[in-house]
Amino acid sequence: APNIPVANVQAHLDQFQTIATNNGGNRAHGRPGYQASVNYVKGKLDAAGWTTSVKSFTYNGATGYNLIADWPGGNPDAIIMAGAHLDSVTAGPGINDNGTGSAGLLEVALAISAADLAPEKHIRFGWWGAEELGLIGSTNYVNSLPSTEKAKIDAYLNFDMIGSPNPGYFVYSASGQPAGSLELQQVLEGYFRSINVPTELTSVGGRSDHAAFARAGIPVGGTFTGAEGTKTSAQAQKWGGTAGQAYDACYHRSCDRTGNVNTAALDRNTDAIAHAVWTLAGEGGGGPD
Ligand code: PHE
Ligand code: ZN
Ligand code: ZN
Ligand code: ZN
Repeated sequence: APNIPVANVQAHLDQFQTIATNNGGNRAHGRPGYQASVNYVKGKLDAAGWTTSVKSFTYNGATGYNLIADWPGGNPDAIIMAGAHLDSVTAGPGINDNGTGSAGLLEVALAISAADLAPEKHIRFGWWGAEELGLIGSTNYVNSLPSTEKAKIDAYLNFDMIGSPNPGYFVYSASGQPAGSLELQQVLEGYFRSINVPTELTSVGGRSDHAAFARAGIPVGGTFTGAEGTKTSAQAQKWGGTAGQAYDACYHRSCDRTGNVNTAALDRNTDAIAHAVWTLAGEGGGGPD
């Protein structure tokens, strides 16, 4: 898989910040900043040759949107999915939570296009609405699929907060949650091992969009750099950063702005997404390594 340039990911974060700033300070469900975020990501994907569709739902009296993107080709009965929630809380612009997952996934999508990837499996990415209100968009998407369509999804990878300013390197535990996949866990762990970054397993349980897929029996995995939890001294020794402080002290706050991102964590996790998608979808030819 290619090494994804983190500067490109940061450029998407700058755009999410500008969108929030121009729309009342957030990118929350039902607010204009959310719709602008969907338009931004969709525009980049369309220009890169992805097939996109915006699927709307209603929640709390407001229309919400999921953005679904398919990379043409690959076995339609063997789908590798990855996703990130695109909405923020109303308190702030949501740059680490979850501009980082959204931007990392977008840049991997653009790398797939640049490589003209011809994978064995079909690749589908999703940007979810209204995660912050209770996994509403991802749940709506999964529930909207006929069981024949759900059965075609081999795996779902979730990326929610991958650039925390005092980062941990967490991989979703296969045994620690419903439908956790050992294959997905090991593919992600394998990437971090290859760059000599130690990881820990974490049980994310029902706290993000993978839970909607897990409920349908779809194998899930993902990475995470930490939210309101506190970094231990053992973790600070192996990962750097500050012991006794939150992984993200700006979690769900107005200060979750572009400065609230650790570039190395964002870079490593974006490269991990690329590695996982390339590996799981299978390179059928075209593209580097
Ligand atoms: N889903 C949480 C949020 O958006 C963040 C989170 C992700 C927490 C993964 C724990 C594990 O606020
Ligand atoms: Zn990189
Ligand atoms: Zn959140
Ligand atoms: Zn989140």
